[in-house]
Amino acid sequence: MSTAEPILLTPGPLTTSRRTRQSMMVDWGSWDDRFNQLTASVCEQLLSIINGADSHHCVPLQGSGTFAVEAAIGTLVPRDGKVLVLINGAYGKRLAKICEVLDRSFSTFETAEDEPTTAADVDRLLRADPGITHVALIHCETSTGILNPLPQIAQVIAQQGKRLIIDAMSSFGALPIDAQQVPFDALIAASGKCLEGVPGMGFVFARKESLATAAGNSHSLAMDLFDQHTYMAKTGQWRFTPPTHVVAALHEALLQYHEEGGLPARHQRYANNCQVLLDDMAKLGLRSFLPAAIQAPIIVTFHAPKDPRYQFKEFYERVKAKGFILYPGKLTQVETFRVGCIGHVNPPQMHAAVAAIAQVLQEMEVFEI
Ligand SMILES: Cc1ncc(COP(=O)(O)O)c(C=O)c1O
Repeated sequence: MSTAEPILLTPGPLTTSRRTRQSMMVDWGSWDDRFNQLTASVCEQLLSIINGADSHHCVPLQGSGTFAVEAAIGTLVPRDGKVLVLINGAYGKRLAKICEVLDRSFSTFETAEDEPTTAADVDRLLRADPGITHVALIHCETSTGILNPLPQIAQVIAQQGKRLIIDAMSSFGALPIDAQQVPFDALIAASGKCLEGVPGMGFVFARKESLATAAGNSHSLAMDLFDQHTYMAKTGQWRFTPPTHVVAALHEALLQYHEEGGLPARHQRYANNCQVLLDDMAKLGLRSFLPAAIQAPIIVTFHAPKDPRYQFKEFYERVKAKGFILYPGKLTQVETFRVGCIGHVNPPQMHAAVAAIAQVLQEMEVFEI
């Protein structure tokens, strides 16, 4: 199979529908009422996905996901606060890096890349250091695809009177999170992930009371979510030039999300994609890095074949020529590659992707898996 537009089996940017791409064929004025209504509708729909309209504001922000994570930490952690950063992969490490750059006091707790953080760990760490004010957690650590037990960790943090910041970049929209069940100060995600919009804006669900007291915390003008929210609440407009086409595409992607059946349907399709991928790859002898119990249906890390004829770059190019874009591994100790299950992709395309991988391994004479 070879198509002009390869299918992206990556964690984002990812494959979007034609309808979503076509929605970007209009130019919007940022002062125009219709555009402001589009933004308001997007925020309202996003809040409804987490059942958060009563408790949280949705604050959209221009830029990639990391911009929104940095803005959330900078706005919601006071300058004399202290963050406990939970790490089991590259994005957890990035949270610590953000705290360092923003000059927020922090400590880290790191487990192996195939070991979820537990609520018991967090309970012990919070008891040991009463100076901690906030905990930052990656929900699905995209560098492997591991799922951290968010509800249990959130309960422990709330019981100890601390505040939680969740990077749910690669899980929001596909894995259920209810703001009335899972206490958090901030949950961060972006347009170009499981909602199947295009990249270009992040958004932060910020607890209303926490945002109300966050004036002056931020180190930055452009990344100040308090200002961003205050201005938008007053004017209906974005503070600075909005990513108009990205907002329009997200609005269109959300219509399709609801048509598909919302979160349960999106979750089920991704779970089906993931199962097809795991089953078909297992038939080729390709083993996943994570055990099934901690594997989120978002992205799967596979051990690279042992055969010396296997080189990721060549493997990647050959699979791409057959119409599928894979993703490199991100582990330091083990050679791996990753295959995403998210995006406008269905199980038949996952079967086809693994068939392409099988052909490529044959072509490369990679026999030792
Ligand atoms: C868990 C997680 N956090 C943060 C990011 C960073 O997002 P970006 O590359 O859009 O800045 C990603 C990107 O995939 C992610 O998966």
